[in-house]
Parts: sequence; structure tokens; C-alpha cells
Amino acid sequence: ADSLRIALAGLGTVGAGVIRVLTENGDLIARRAGRPIEIVAVNARDRSKDRGVDLSGYAWEDDMAAFADRDDVDVVVELVGGSDGPALALARKTLAGGKGLVTANKAMIAHHGMELAEAAEQAGVPLRYEAAVAGGIPAIKGLGEGAAANRIERIYGILNGTCNYILSQMEGSGADFADVLKDAQELGYAEADPTFDVEGVDAAHKLAILASLAFGTRIDFGAVDCSGISAIRAADIAQADQLGFVIRLIGLADCTTDELGPRLFQRVAPCLVAKDHALAGPKGPTNAVVIEGDHVGQLLLQGAGAGMGPTASAVVADLIDIARGFNPPPLGLPAAMLQPSTPADPAGRRNR
Ligand code: NAP
Ligand code: HSE
Repeated sequence: ADSLRIALAGLGTVGAGVIRVLTENGDLIARRAGRPIEIVAVNARDRSKDRGVDLSGYAWEDDMAAFADRDDVDVVVELVGGSDGPALALARKTLAGGKGLVTANKAMIAHHGMELAEAAEQAGVPLRYEAAVAGGIPAIKGLGEGAAANRIERIYGILNGTCNYILSQMEGSGADFADVLKDAQELGYAEADPTFDVEGVDAAHKLAILASLAFGTRIDFGAVDCSGISAIRAADIAQADQLGFVIRLIGLADCTTDELGPRLFQRVAPCLVAKDHALAGPKGPTNAVVIEGDHVGQLLLQGAGAGMGPTASAVVADLIDIARGFNPPPLGLPAAMLQPSTPADPAGRRNR
């Protein structure tokens, strides 16, 4: 069968990981996908950088936007990052030009996912972003496909690997926040700007995407009430420990109806979690996503939420779906059917 021909923009932690997965598991992936997945062209900023993978068989494009013009490319894989800038320009051009797009870029989906979903639907091409939420965990598939029969009551969990790594390392050793953050950066877990991780913004991007899928609302990142872990000190963790808790950065979304109508609540905040709770267990860059559905009950999806192998695994899973011809609406429902989000007044509802 004809191969699925892809172009890779971004050859950092995730991009290099995708090359590794496709190289090491190429035969198995071709059998599962029904055809080979072939890298045709690649791009990054610095052509001379050693990325630990062999790039010699791929065309190098100096300008990633050129991928959208290539007749030998079916799907563009965007692993550059940033909510706007070259990643967004590439995404728009790719979809408008009738090619599929796979991305791990939660910032871009949280800010522009509605527009991109509409563009993909209009062009009849796939837009997939499994790796954007919770790294290797199939959270998007779990929610949008596995739990699709359910009215979702609540979705919550640990959505940032860097924060979980920092908090759990500080727990074990009393290590200094800044030192552990530096380790997380070196291990490839952190965002290019790590304040997105430690201030809760990255988790908020992911929560806004999950909330849209869970409740059939338009993505509303601006309505996420968000605080991070940058003010947490070793003394806070020790105090929590004495009281029988650990501290975890938790994202939670639920949608309830009260006398003022339906209300979407989205919040990311450091929380005290009882040591015997499922969300106290995950250490290191592990994420955990709890989906509560009216018929399935409670689902707990747990696994590596950041890092090269797990994130690349999710990107390639999307490519396998596309190679098989699977093309569900990018946001679970056609974009035109998504409801506007309800008033952005989370604290108000909780305090009444
Ligand atoms: P990264 O290691 O910093 O890699 C980014 C890549 O993009 C690099 O190859 C860089 O080129 C290239 N790049 C950056 N700006 C560019 C520009 N203006 N023009 C051309 N190329 C440019 O980042 P990453 O960790 O792989 O993350 C990539 C995406 O995946 C981000 O959206 C991130 O949020 C998402 N993600 C990451 C993880 C993770 O665990 N790391 C997990 C899930 C999702 P050079 O190498 O030449 O500098
Ligand atoms: N910086 C992100 C995290 C990468 O630490 O969770 C995975 O999305």
C-alpha cells in the first residue's frame, strides 16, 4: 500500500522521539497502520545540531511553511511549540492546503483549537493532538472515544509532569525547587519557557482542551482559574506530610446546572491530597486523569505525562489512526455543535 508521507517540524525532545519510534518500530507500525509511515522532510532552527538520530534520508526544509506546499507530503507533524508564531502559521497553511495535521502543541490548541478544528473540518482533513494532553496517556482518545457514550460529570487529575516531578522529588529529599526544576528541564519534561509549567499555565491549557471534549463546549482557556506551584517550599511539603497529605498540582473541570443555569468550572491549583488517594501515588513526571461518566463510573488513566518516548508514542498513535483512515471530529463533536462556555465565574459559584 502507499505509505503515509509525513513532514516533521521540530526536532527537539518530541521530534527526535518520533523519529526514534518510527525507526525502531517501523515494521510493527506498518502492520498496525496497514501501510508504512514514511518521513519525507524535516525542519528545525539549527541544521548542524546533533539530535542523536540519523536525518540523512530526509529532505531538509529551511522554512517549515514549505511543508504545506510539498506534493509529496500527506500530513504535517508540528512539534515546535508556542501558541502563535511559526507553529500557528504552519498549522493554518497545512489545513488550508488540504493536508492533515498532528501536533503536540497544547498552547496552540488551547488558544486556536476552535479555528483549527473548523479549518480541518472544512478541508475534510484530520487534526489530531493526543500528545498535547498528558503525554503518553491516551486521555483524548479515552475521553473522546472510550467514554463517548457517557454524560461526563467531572474530569480532573495531574496534568503537568514537570510540576509532579518537582513536588515528588522535593517530598523524597527536601531538595531545592530551583535545582529540581533544572533537572526536569534537562530531562526534557519542561516547556521552552518553564514558567508555563510552574505557574500552572501548561496544565490550564490541557484542562481547557479536556473540558471542551468532556462537556461539548467551545475551548475557553481564558476561563480557567489558574495558580501554580512556584510559591511551594520544602516547609509546605513537610507540613503537609505531617498532616497525612502530599501536595499535587490538580486540574479539575465540572459542569453543573444551578439556578443561574449551566456553569463550567475549570481550575488548576496546588491541592492537599490524602496519602491514600489515587492521585497521591504518581511520582516523577507521571500524570493521572480521572474521568467520571454517568454509566462507566470512574476511569483512572495514569502514565508518563512528559518526556521523549511517551510523548512520541502518542504522536505516532495519531499517525497510525490517520494511516488507517480514522478521522473523527477534532473536538469530539463538529465545531459548529459546540456550545459557548458558560460564565467565567468559577469562584462566584463555589462561594455562594
Ligand atoms: P524542544 O525540545 O524545545 O524542541 C522544539 C523544536 O522546535 C526544536 O527542534 C527547535 O529547533 C524547533 N524550533 C523552535 N522554534 C523554531 C522556529 N522558530 N523555527 C524552526 N524551528 C523551531 O520542545 P519539545 O519538548 O520537543 O516540545 C515540542 C512540542 O511538544 C511543544 O508544543 C510542547 O509543548 C509539546 N510537548 C512536549 C512534551 C515534552 O515532554 N517535551 C510533551 C508533550 C507535548 P532547534 O532544535 O534547532 O533549536
Ligand atoms: N511540560 C509539559 C509537562 C510537557 O511537564 O507536563 C508535557 O505536556
